[in-house]
Amino acid sequence: MSTVQQALDNPDRVMERAKTENLISPRFYTTDYAAMNRLDVSALRAEWDAMLAEYEGDNNHDHFKRDEAFASEVKQLPPELHQEFLDFLITSITSEFSGCVLYNEIRKNVDNPDIKQLMTYLTRDESRHANFINYSLRDYDLAVDLQALKASKAYTYFKPKYIFYATYLSEKIGYARYITIFRQLEKHPELRFHPIFRWFERWCNDEFRHGESFALIMRANPHLLRGGNVLWIRFFLLAVYATMFVRDHTRPILHQAMGLDADSYDYRVFDITTEISKQVFPVSLDTNAPAFRRGLAALVEARMAYDAAATRGGVVGRLQQAGAALKGAWHFAKLYLHPVKKHELPAQIRVAPVW
Ligand SMILES: [Fe+2]
Ligand SMILES: [Fe+2]
Repeated sequence: MSTVQQALDNPDRVMERAKTENLISPRFYTTDYAAMNRLDVSALRAEWDAMLAEYEGDNNHDHFKRDEAFASEVKQLPPELHQEFLDFLITSITSEFSGCVLYNEIRKNVDNPDIKQLMTYLTRDESRHANFINYSLRDYDLAVDLQALKASKAYTYFKPKYIFYATYLSEKIGYARYITIFRQLEKHPELRFHPIFRWFERWCNDEFRHGESFALIMRANPHLLRGGNVLWIRFFLLAVYATMFVRDHTRPILHQAMGLDADSYDYRVFDITTEISKQVFPVSLDTNAPAFRRGLAALVEARMAYDAAATRGGVVGRLQQAGAALKGAWHFAKLYLHPVKKHELPAQIRVAPVW
């Protein structure tokens, strides 16, 4: 059942949705800029300079433009699919823009030339991505007012190392999500219900490269990948995977329309992300273990129960909500303690986007 609860049919609802704060909604972040300024990537100078040269080359400078064909392919969708697709566009634009704001704030607050230059390129890319999604909302006479969102959204403070773990993962999982959809619709063009999916291949190569940048930062500072930090890496892996899994399971119709089901889509995305993340993380989650999969399914159930209780309201609703939240926390803790796979870090750091 779809849980897009209120019809996203006017600009106020769209802004409300973009501003939503809960455990699975995209967040905005701030960090310790002085510590960012002190970052040293000189241990990997050659790799770093090669990566910056790729950004400089800007092979996607002409990609995020709408053409005639795009406009002519936009069509009326069945109501439930329309709602889930809007929800998908709004959460996507919020996370693209969240990256844009964070990278831009770091850019403004550092004078370390390596970091400043990287953040300039990242901001450029994410702002293109967010604006491109807004064009598609405008086709439905909707839009997310990005400046208003920036002013009104709550910000979460993360230490730089948490920013690296979280953004590395969200860039790489973003790549895996977009490429999996692109490949599926390449095989089944008849299921491509909106033209934006044709843009995903070159789009996700941007996200892939963004992830590579954070991989280099972490590999140039190997203490971030050892000792007690491995427990944080486990936490962020699980938080990012579980958030995606729960969020996707609230939009079943969107995946069905593309000939995917949320389960097989998400497990494919996990496989790709896990394979890539071995370039930097010494551990990975065993997402194919039956007990792990049962845990994720239980998280979805707890989330559904939580939403149903919220809709019910009143004292009983609030009690049921608290019960569901506790259940969710319990399953999350069990998933956290599930044994992880361990890896040696490869000498060759960079990975190519070959999926
Ligand atoms: Fe992006
Ligand atoms: Fe990105």
